[in-house]
Amino acid sequence: MDRIRIQGGKPLAGAIPISGAKNAALPLMAACLLSDKALRLSNMPHVADIASMASLLAQCGVDVHMDGDAATGCPQGSVLTLCARQVTSTEAPYDLVRKMRASVLVLGPLLARCGEARVSLPGGCAIGTRPIDLHLKALAHMGAEITLDAGYVTARAPKGGLVGARFAFPSVSVGATENALMAAVLAKGETVLANAAREPEIGDLARCLAAMGARIDGIGTDTLTVHGVESLNAASHAVIPDRIEAGTYAIAAAITDGDLTLQGVKRELVAALCEHLEGAGVAVTETPAGLRVHRHNGALVGIDVMTEPFPGFPTDLQAQMMTLLTVAKGAAMVTETIFENRFMHVPELCRMGANINIHGASAMVRGVPQLRGAPVMATDLRASVSLVLAGLAAQGETTISRVYHLDRGYERLEEKLQACGARIERLKG
Ligand code: EPZ
Repeated sequence: MDRIRIQGGKPLAGAIPISGAKNAALPLMAACLLSDKALRLSNMPHVADIASMASLLAQCGVDVHMDGDAATGCPQGSVLTLCARQVTSTEAPYDLVRKMRASVLVLGPLLARCGEARVSLPGGCAIGTRPIDLHLKALAHMGAEITLDAGYVTARAPKGGLVGARFAFPSVSVGATENALMAAVLAKGETVLANAAREPEIGDLARCLAAMGARIDGIGTDTLTVHGVESLNAASHAVIPDRIEAGTYAIAAAITDGDLTLQGVKRELVAALCEHLEGAGVAVTETPAGLRVHRHNGALVGIDVMTEPFPGFPTDLQAQMMTLLTVAKGAAMVTETIFENRFMHVPELCRMGANINIHGASAMVRGVPQLRGAPVMATDLRASVSLVLAGLAAQGETTISRVYHLDRGYERLEEKLQACGARIERLKG
């Protein structure tokens, strides 16, 4: 298994191109199942999760074509054309869903287009139990008959297809909102999804569906109203920039006392992070090239952070922000409200000299002057990248094992960091 080796202590400087958002791209890919016409997605990130979703779609009979775009200078793999002319399988098997939970996003589209779908239950994962009950409840409100058997969910639409309905999510779920939204675009009549998630990735999905001919009101708000249509057309759509990748590199600038510009990123995409960074003594300015991030006057100060659904502070940046706070002056309280087990990075950070105590859903971080390099182990995508950040700031050498987690969601991580002066390399094996 590959490892990553970092010689820390070097301030990063330069500009980092931000890739398309993995978490926007995955539901966009699933949306191709709603139409028998081609969906062309550009600005696709080249990461392992996209390849997993492509395999799942291919298995459903989707024609998957990966390309570059010479006209706009897009590299090979950044343009994906998906055509579900004929869906030949309506099943998402355990092996694929287990590897990548976002596979459950094919449930809504398959059910809406084919009238049935059989999707493996994902099971637990490193950061929490992560049930899919809200996905199923929303679909049941549209008339789906849902049965659970042998670890699989089978969903069947009524004879005439799904029927529009009003559904208020009892709590906010990104994936359940996406599944329900995709199902609703082909349901008969009007669907109202209240207390819907407002993450930018949902806005991106809704805009792509609209380009395919769906009729959706309230995009960007917590109430989505969908007027069902008979069928969807061909469309082209560019994936939004990855706000979590951008946020990760913003924190890399701050923790190494460097100066980075995150190309193509606007402040509004990462507004909650910017406010928190500013509170911690980091300057964030919008420039024509992107968002510029550097420390105000050298010192970082501790601030409290609580994760919340968008527009609050994203759970996917909690581990990275906590890493920054390990070297800030004073104490900071980090509270995780989205997932029940998302502090797996804490023991690893402590091995590098951090002072962190967990109390239930909160972690008390007392800043230390310096982290020290150590061998550490990645446990999930964001925990892994938080260890990269720690390694970049630490004195001495850090090696991170199990980096396949990183490959699921960060495109060309070492290359992007090396270009800004980081001493980071991948050790094959
Ligand atoms: C999406 O996961 C993201 N994944 C996650 O990113 C992200 O952490 C999460 O949203 C929250 O922002 C993708 O977009 C592919 P949820 P999702 O449904 O949709 C509970 C990363 O690192 N819940 O909003 O699975 C759930 O257990 C990943 O890139 C139910 O109880 O998240 C959690 O506590 C990790 N029942 C909370 O809601 C349900 O049916 C929010 O989960 C669904 C969710």
